[in-house]
Amino acid sequence: MTKTVLITGGSSGIGLALSERMLERGYRLFWVSLDEAEIEASKAGLLRRFPEARIEGRALDLGESHSVARIVQWVQGEGGADILVNNAGFGVYGPSARNSVDAEQAMIDVNAKALHALTRAFVPVMEAAGGGAIINVASNSAFVPTPGLAVYAATKAFVRHYSNALSQELARAGSPVRIMTVCPSAVADTPFKQRAQMDAVRTFQSFTATTAGEVADDILKGYDRGAAEVITGAAMRRAMWLMRFAPAPVVRWLTRRETGQVG
Ligand SMILES: NC(=O)c1ccc[n+]([C@@H]2O[C@H](COP(=O)([O-])OP(=O)(O)OC[C@H]3O[C@@H](n4cnc5c(N)ncnc54)[C@H](OP(=O)(O)O)[C@@H]3O)[C@@H](O)[C@H]2O)c1
Repeated sequence: MTKTVLITGGSSGIGLALSERMLERGYRLFWVSLDEAEIEASKAGLLRRFPEARIEGRALDLGESHSVARIVQWVQGEGGADILVNNAGFGVYGPSARNSVDAEQAMIDVNAKALHALTRAFVPVMEAAGGGAIINVASNSAFVPTPGLAVYAATKAFVRHYSNALSQELARAGSPVRIMTVCPSAVADTPFKQRAQMDAVRTFQSFTATTAGEVADDILKGYDRGAAEVITGAAMRRAMWLMRFAPAPVVRWLTRRETGQVG
């Protein structure tokens, strides 16, 4: 039977790169993103390369509380998902005290609240179906409080802590549902940085920066080997290993430097 994957934010950036690889593996795709035109354009692009592909997308705002119930109803009505990738998210850059409160709260709603609600909704239906996997996209900013991205990094710390703990709880309970957390370093070739007005931010030009393709490859390598957490980008993995030996003030300085502007 055809395997299915629901990818939030599947029509852009990391989600699109992962979609391509899931089609290579023969999966049927369900997407939820904001922009209907982008969904259609990305779908048309993939269908040119994979004419037999089955891709269905819905334009829904994950920041609205009723969206999750609509997604579950839709996907379950189509036979359910073997894999859910909670990838949709965005950043709000700048000193938190100066950012718009509404913008920061909208980010919490999408990056954390919707991810939690979708995870909670799909665990029981996947258990009832005999198994499944949920891949939650956090960030390397989940590891360290991050000035300039204070609330964004906090949402990603939530994603990482929640997903890692849930993964252990489900494994201990003998659940057939597996949770994997993904922590990408800065991804230079997706619309994320421009949408967050972070074009001039140093981290996207750092040696640790990665690409959507590398992130998608690393997600699938981690998935295939049964990893509970994946740090994507080879350079970032080496940097994170070295950071274990760095004193806290050095880590704080490096983090501030990385999220500062170039020049
Ligand atoms: N880029 C990075 O440097 C980086 C680093 C670490 C982690 N991440 C994380 O990786 C994930 C994917 O980011 P990306 O780099 O691929 O950026 P992206 O290309 O901007 O993709 C984000 C996706 O999320 C969707 N989305 C945003 N808000 C939404 C909402 N309210 N409702 C429904 N969909 C929504 C977008 O939909 P539309 O395109 O239709 O607006 C888009 O498809 C995010 O969770 C991000 O936080 C990114």
